[in-house]
Amino acid sequence: MNITILGPGAIGSLYAYKLHQAGHRVSVWGRSPQDTVVIELDGGSAIHFPNCDVTSLKASDLVIVTLKAWQVELALKPLLKHLNSDAILLFLHNGMGTVEHLATAINHHPVLLGTSTHGALRLSSSQVRHTGLGQTFIGPWNDKGSRCSFIADVLDHAFKPVAWNSEIQTALWSKLVINCAINPLTAINNCQNGGLAHKDYQQQIAMVVREATECANQVGVVLKAEEMLDTVYKVIHATAQNYSSMHQDIYNKRQSEIDYITGYVVSISKRYGIAVPTNLALYHQIKQIESSWNQHD
Ligand code: PAF
Repeated sequence: MNITILGPGAIGSLYAYKLHQAGHRVSVWGRSPQDTVVIELDGGSAIHFPNCDVTSLKASDLVIVTLKAWQVELALKPLLKHLNSDAILLFLHNGMGTVEHLATAINHHPVLLGTSTHGALRLSSSQVRHTGLGQTFIGPWNDKGSRCSFIADVLDHAFKPVAWNSEIQTALWSKLVINCAINPLTAINNCQNGGLAHKDYQQQIAMVVREATECANQVGVVLKAEEMLDTVYKVIHATAQNYSSMHQDIYNKRQSEIDYITGYVVSISKRYGIAVPTNLALYHQIKQIESSWNQHD
């Protein structure tokens, strides 16, 4: 397939590399001013990808959006005019709430949503390390998307395990709860995901999970708090060496995805009148860190 990765950060680079190795024609669309982006995964050989190449974009059968949630709307809108109307859009980023903003602009495309628990770390402008083996679920956002389950097989062949999930909202909420528990805490406490296994965080993690799960239940997504807590600890252990994406953003003084992770839960809690004090406190702590840079820089 002709595939464009929009946002070749750590996770986007991982997919670009694996899809290229599986024999697809992959290009990337990133911020680099160069015509080519070089990616080396886990010390393997360097692969050169065309970057910001309109001809490749126009030929794309599949566009995988791996941007930060807050970048999606601004980056994707100007590119839509180049895409064939059959081009499949797959949104694969942390957090929720982005696709709703683009609904009218993208609804004529088959649209898929996905969620992945892989961990990846960018070591330099070209080097990427796969730090936590995870899994990917993809599923339909619209009717046209529901006819594209073959994309799960394509991705699974390149980067196992990938599964089709027609109830993708459940998978997205499940990932959202994981991100609410891991991301702000690792960023605030400056630790790897594995650091959260310490008993000091036990109560806070349990509260975050309980509150976020209640919000999911309110919107009709059935998640059980106890099962979610179990899953959160599994991810903490499986990605113990990984610095979460929010840790990496806050550490490097880059805008985080807090508005689309904890902020999304807070917005749902307001809509339904649910108390989410632990998530709200974490939300404000991250916001405070972000605003402190603007004051001092
Ligand atoms: O955002 C992240 O870093 C990842 O989604 C996860 C699963 C928490 C692993 O670090």
